[in-house]
Amino acid sequence: MTADDTSDLAARLRRSLARQLVQAGSLNDPAWRKAVESVPRELFVGGAIAGATEYGGRWQVTHRDDVSDDEWLRLVYSDTTWVTQIDRDMVENGHGILRGIPTSSSTLPGLVVQMLEAARITDGDKVIEVGTGTGYSAGLMCHRLGDSAVTSIEYDPVVAGRARQALTAAGYAPTLVIGDGLNGYDKNAEYDRLIATCSVRFIPFPWMWQVRDGGTITAPLSGWMHGSAFAHLTLTDDGTASGRFLKDDVYFMIARPHDSPPLASPYLRGEKRASRVDPNILDDQAGLFVGQLAAPSAMKLGKGDAVILLDVATGSQAGTEADPQGGWTVRQHGPLRLWDAVEDAILTWQEAGSPHQSAFGLTVTRDRQYVWLGDPDGPSWNLPA
Ligand SMILES: C[S@@+](CC[C@H](N)C(=O)[O-])C[C@H]1O[C@@H](n2cnc3c(N)ncnc32)[C@H](O)[C@@H]1O
Repeated sequence: MTADDTSDLAARLRRSLARQLVQAGSLNDPAWRKAVESVPRELFVGGAIAGATEYGGRWQVTHRDDVSDDEWLRLVYSDTTWVTQIDRDMVENGHGILRGIPTSSSTLPGLVVQMLEAARITDGDKVIEVGTGTGYSAGLMCHRLGDSAVTSIEYDPVVAGRARQALTAAGYAPTLVIGDGLNGYDKNAEYDRLIATCSVRFIPFPWMWQVRDGGTITAPLSGWMHGSAFAHLTLTDDGTASGRFLKDDVYFMIARPHDSPPLASPYLRGEKRASRVDPNILDDQAGLFVGQLAAPSAMKLGKGDAVILLDVATGSQAGTEADPQGGWTVRQHGPLRLWDAVEDAILTWQEAGSPHQSAFGLTVTRDRQYVWLGDPDGPSWNLPA
């Protein structure tokens, strides 16, 4: 293929990706459509990409030189998350199947635009992004808002360096910061919108000072059980922020400083008693989110009938199993009765009709961050802020 053929094909694939995202309902705003049709994703994914395999935790690497130009561009413009770093090592250093946990990626374009639309970013907004990654989403924002309106922060210096190169090659020059995005970037504050393309266990306080009153924070809320909900908060002039979770089911890798410590070994003790809830409910995304609210510093092992919760802060543990006589039993030990708390939360949620995460909301004050069910005066759970 000549260079002209390659660039024609890339332009066609960009238009076709945009059409596909419109049809899927994730791209509605014509201004973002133009951005998707213009920003060359091939500059951002680098020289090698890794895709999910059917085996969890294993990733198939494709190098740019392993395939034809045509095939490479078709991969680049598929609506897929391409992992670019695993366990902090760039994918391009590996071959074949890699094992590990993704630490940076080019998120699937459908999710990137869904996020930009959910944040209600409009022309004239000044935006800060936490989690530059490959720089593709920053490129879309620069295309629409202009370089001076975009600040993006990346924790990993190698990833940030690649993003800078890609953005420069694509003709964009936002403020790029290497550092912990949980601190925001006060030099360019105040911002109209803050978006995070990594998830957080709670809203970092610097974000509250750097977004203007009436501005918004859009961030996936997650935790150590991997339950998630998509927060969209509006700041008020009394220094609080509040909002109901959005209907979109999004999951982003957790912000590095909020990641879980190494898993402890289960060591179950305590008397067996009947469980008041079916542990299988934690295999449901909304059920898992509710369980995580009740035990915010616990990690979860297992699934189905046999679930183990390990609390990092206190060493408390709980484990369930099916009872041959019917139902389930639980054993728990340690200062926190983890399963009691999970049961209470699940029963409260079930009494409300087991709704999706969008029936919950989050309020952030100076003293407390809490997730509520129904409205801010309803049942609530504190986040580990
Ligand atoms: C899913 S990727 C971002 C996708 C990206 N926006 C794109 O368009 O391709 C998440 C990124 O967040 C970064 N990250 C994690 N914790 C962070 C933090 N505390 N501050 C800034 N970046 C962080 C990771 O290194 C990773 O590159």
